[in-house]
Amino acid sequence: MRKPIIAGNWKMNKTAKQAEELINQLKPLVSKSKPEVVICVPYTDLWVAKQAIAGSKIKLGAENVAWADSGAFTGEISAEMLKEIGVEYVIIGHSERRQYFGETDKTVNMRLLQALKNDLKPIVCVGETLEEREKNRTKKVLKKQILEGLNGVTDFTNLVIAYEPVWAIGTGKTATAEDANKTIGYIRSLIRKTFGADVAKALRIQYGGSMKPSNAKELMAMRNIDGGLIGGAALKAEDFASIVNYK
Ligand code: 13P
Repeated sequence: MRKPIIAGNWKMNKTAKQAEELINQLKPLVSKSKPEVVICVPYTDLWVAKQAIAGSKIKLGAENVAWADSGAFTGEISAEMLKEIGVEYVIIGHSERRQYFGETDKTVNMRLLQALKNDLKPIVCVGETLEEREKNRTKKVLKKQILEGLNGVTDFTNLVIAYEPVWAIGTGKTATAEDANKTIGYIRSLIRKTFGADVAKALRIQYGGSMKPSNAKELMAMRNIDGGLIGGAALKAEDFASIVNYK
């Protein structure tokens, strides 16, 4: 059985002070949660978030990681820096990184291998744009993202994939549960063909894109959906907790 994982992606929201407040509100609301609960926060919030989650079930994640160990990479943050704070998860290849900051399947792959080498648990994001979807290119796009992004990975134990259709992110438009389940089923079949049945069976694949309290239960009931990567709704303690406690 795959343990569900609900992760918040705060994106570029919340100062350190605001982060502390939000976590303090969230903690009692998720204390009995069944799924694994993760919050991926801006770099400047990591330190205070690590203190604030102490004694709770909430796990800490970052929103990216550099592919190099150290050196002349202005603006980047290394795996070692994240590990020292106590970061456990790291988002890699979010569509906003791909869209606005030139992230490619190649750089996703480099970051991913670096995360795994340093025992960080990667949440690798894939997903098609509206244009790609309308041109019936969803499978082709996902195949490229997965095969190139995951190239060279041998141990999948700590890896999570997030399927986030770009047209559903921050738009209020959610993929229907059936649709998301079907596409995630395709991703799983691709993983099976490429990396083997055991990997495909154990690998957790989240859905992301306008997931909220009102649709979490329906999405989570789907066979192939093992969790959610939550943007907007992760910024309010009650909303995020209600997704975490979707049952
Ligand atoms: P929203 O939940 O705001 O649509 O964002 C989804 C997302 O991008 C999570 O990584």
